[in-house]
Amino acid sequence: MPYTFLEKCSSTGDIFVNGERVTVCTDRSLLAALLAAGVECDLFCGIGQCQRCVVRVDGVRRPACMVRATAGADVILPAAPRRGDRESS
Ligand code: FES
Repeated sequence: MPYTFLEKCSSTGDIFVNGERVTVCTDRSLLAALLAAGVECDLFCGIGQCQRCVVRVDGVRRPACMVRATAGADVILPAAPRRGDRESS
């Protein structure tokens, strides 16, 4: 049987990422759960300081590294920068 990330979870649940159902581990941060499920996320510090992992969870902007993954959550990822977009300063 092939190894999957879900085998290490003590609990799993479905969340919605940009409207798509994704099964994640619910025993860890949302950022860790998203990354383990193969969802690309920006990150740097992992302790809520850099704000690079900010997503919208049930309509509220939150750093994904500071939010627990909760079944049923509606997560909206920030739009990826497109080629030619300028970074705001
Ligand atoms: S990775 Fe820095 S705030 Fe989440």
